[in-house]
Amino acid sequence: MLLVTGVNGGLGSLVLEALAGRADVLAGSRTPDRVRTELPVRLVDFDRPETLAEAFAGVRTLLLISAGAAEDDVVTARHGAAIEAAERAGIEHVVYTSLSGDGDHLPYALAHRWTERRLRASASLRWTVLRNGLYAELLGAIAAPGPDGVVTAPLGDGRLAAVARADLAEAAVKVALAPAEHAGRTYELVGERAVGGAEVAEALGAPYRPGRLGEARTAVAASDAFDFQVPMVVGTYSAIAHGFLAGPGGPRDLAALLGRPPRPALEVIAGR
Ligand SMILES: NC(=O)c1ccc[n+]([C@@H]2O[C@H](COP(=O)([O-])OP(=O)(O)OC[C@H]3O[C@@H](n4cnc5c(N)ncnc54)[C@H](OP(=O)(O)O)[C@@H]3O)[C@@H](O)[C@H]2O)c1
Repeated sequence: MLLVTGVNGGLGSLVLEALAGRADVLAGSRTPDRVRTELPVRLVDFDRPETLAEAFAGVRTLLLISAGAAEDDVVTARHGAAIEAAERAGIEHVVYTSLSGDGDHLPYALAHRWTERRLRASASLRWTVLRNGLYAELLGAIAAPGPDGVVTAPLGDGRLAAVARADLAEAAVKVALAPAEHAGRTYELVGERAVGGAEVAEALGAPYRPGRLGEARTAVAASDAFDFQVPMVVGTYSAIAHGFLAGPGGPRDLAALLGRPPRPALEVIAGR
C-alpha cells in the first residue's frame, strides 16, 4: 500500500488525481471529510503523533509531502513525528518532497535539510528525496502586477528555475509507484530555464519596475500574513534577486523522470 499525505494541498491533490482508481493507494489528510476521492482516506496529522500508528498501519510506501508552512521547530517536529511513526509501523520506503539544492539560502531550507538528514540516519527506512524547485505558480503569485498593473517584485535581474507544480506531482507519482528503483536517490527537480521578473512581466503584458526588499517587507508585514511568513517571502525575493535560485550546479533530473521536457514556467504563469 502507498499512503500519500497532505492530499488537500496543492501538490497532494494533483498527486491524488493521478492515482485515482488504484486499489493500492490510500489518501491521508488532517481533514479526511474534505477530500474528494474514491480512494480510502485516513486521518494523517503530524501535529497529533498519537494518530499516526493507525494512519500508517499496513503501509509499505509513504509519500511524505512536506508540511512546511510554520516555524522551523514546528515543521521539524511534524516531519520527525512522521518519520518515527513510519519506522515504528514498519513502513519500508519514504519518498519526501524537499527543496532544491540551490535553495540553501532560503529561510525554509533548514527544515527540509533536517528532514533529509533524519531520513538518511534511519536504520530501517529506505528513502528517496525529491528536491522540488520553487513552483512557477509561486513565482506568478509573488511577481503578480499590483493594483496599478505594474510588477514591482524586488527581483532585480535575478532568475528562478521555476517548475510547474503539476510536473512535480507527476514525478512524485512515478517515484512513489516504483520506489525500489529510486531508493537512496536525491533528485533535483527544477525548471530547465530560469526566468526573471522582466520575463514574467512581459508574459503578463505588464511593465517591470522592481522595488527594494525593505518595501516588500513592509508590504508583507502589513498584509494578513503570519509573522513567520514575512521572512519567508522576503528571503525568497532576496535569494532570487541575488542569483541563488537559477538552478543547481549539478544535473537536473526532472526531464529524465518525466520522460519529456518540463512545462515552461512562463506558460504556467501566463496560463497558456
Ligand atoms: N516548491 C514550492 O514552491 C513550494 C511552495 C509552497 C510550499 N511548498 C512546500 O511543499 C509542500 C507541498 O506544497 P503544496 O503546494 O501542496 O502546499 P499547500 O497547498 O500549502 O499544502 C500543504 C499541505 O500540507 C499538509 N499539512 C499541513 N500541515 C500538516 C500536518 N500537521 N500534518 C500533515 N499534513 C499537513 C496539508 O494537507 P491536508 O490539508 O490534506 O492535511 C496541507 O494542505 C508545502 O507543505 C511546503 O512544505 C513548496
